[in-house]
Amino acid sequence: MALSIKSKKGRLGPAQLFKAAEILGRYNGPSLFKTILLSPPAHLMNIGPYALANRVFVAPMAGVTDRPFRQLCKKLGAAYAVSEMVTSRRDLWDTLKTSRRANHDGEVEPIAVQIAGTDAPMMADAAAYNVARGAQIIDINMGCPAKKVCNKWAGSALMQDEPLALAIVQAVVAACAPHGVPVTLKMRTGWSESHKNAVRLARMFEAAGVQMIAVHGRTREQGYKGLAEYDTITAVKAALKIPVVANGDIDSPEKARDVLALTGADAVMVGRAAQGRPWIFREISHFLETGTHLAPPLVAEVKRLLLDHLLDHYELYGEFSGVRTARKHIGWYVKSLPGGEDFRARMNLLESCDLQMAAVADYFNGLESSMDRVPAASPYQARQHTEQKERTSA
Ligand SMILES: Cc1cc2nc3c(=O)[nH]c(=O)nc-3n(C[C@H](O)[C@H](O)[C@H](O)COP(=O)(O)O)c2cc1C
Repeated sequence: MALSIKSKKGRLGPAQLFKAAEILGRYNGPSLFKTILLSPPAHLMNIGPYALANRVFVAPMAGVTDRPFRQLCKKLGAAYAVSEMVTSRRDLWDTLKTSRRANHDGEVEPIAVQIAGTDAPMMADAAAYNVARGAQIIDINMGCPAKKVCNKWAGSALMQDEPLALAIVQAVVAACAPHGVPVTLKMRTGWSESHKNAVRLARMFEAAGVQMIAVHGRTREQGYKGLAEYDTITAVKAALKIPVVANGDIDSPEKARDVLALTGADAVMVGRAAQGRPWIFREISHFLETGTHLAPPLVAEVKRLLLDHLLDHYELYGEFSGVRTARKHIGWYVKSLPGGEDFRARMNLLESCDLQMAAVADYFNGLESSMDRVPAASPYQARQHTEQKERTSA
């Protein structure tokens, strides 16, 4: 399909259309362009009918990427976020935890929900349940190494039972197809160093109708130890026609650029490096677009982002759980800041939203008197920022 459309002012070209789609996406408007932009420019990608504004995604992290955090990441440049996994066990759907995870109020489209389980009909049910609650994309978890998931033969453990893994994918695709909902999947490179079956599985999943695959460059056996390797991701990308997303240890704009170049992947997915640093998405996407670094955020901006994040967080979890589960996020934001460790220890003792918010505001007010911006996370970014400052003051 030709990538242009007539408007009152004449014919819009691909660049203008994409800018418009990007703006609509950012402001969460119903995107007319989503359905028009069936073939994005070569350097961008679609998941089914959803055109994504850039190639930098936030990785699903149970207990971290809840709705408030996903929204923040999207606001700060992540083109795509998948919700924390929802179990396929029907008996758990009414629990507070699952219903919070299945709540997408105000979420920026496309709404993607990850499901995990071990039984094909139950996974198909879980997909249908989430589609009925607003999921526009269903993601199958074959990447999580957590015991809780794997002992029940789900998550990355599924990679060891290829027929079962395929049966699950086929059942979920069949449940989603009548609703026009694309199915994606996240997996590891394999079960162990001697059983790296990502390429074989990925081929089977593509043939079964999966529309995007994200690969974490570690085996199930590795957990989070050692370094992510990208050769298997390169091989998966070379074997498939559908988009492939590279994941694992991507923590800077340079690393994102290098992993994209090395693997030929269509996008990168960032997990742990976004904890307490959700602006990493705009830093990476700016660097990929321009080759230059954004300055690190102002202390005042980080204070505002964190206070807004806390308000959203309390709204979802209520005061008791909200204060407790917010502690880890606050800890990540201040981890590498002056006096951050002391502050964290004191803040962990506070038990109300008001006290927690006031302590955060005080800490950042104090910081503002000694520094204008938070330190750059990457040494290259730090160097470029210093050079920019020197040029402006010269
Ligand atoms: C706390 C935590 C929770 C995670 N939960 C999930 C999950 O629910 N589903 C999933 O597919 N991967 C999960 N992962 C794996 C991440 O999506 C990602 O693959 C992994 O952290 C490697 O990427 P990174 O090096 O950028 O962090 C989790 C990782 C962490 C650290």
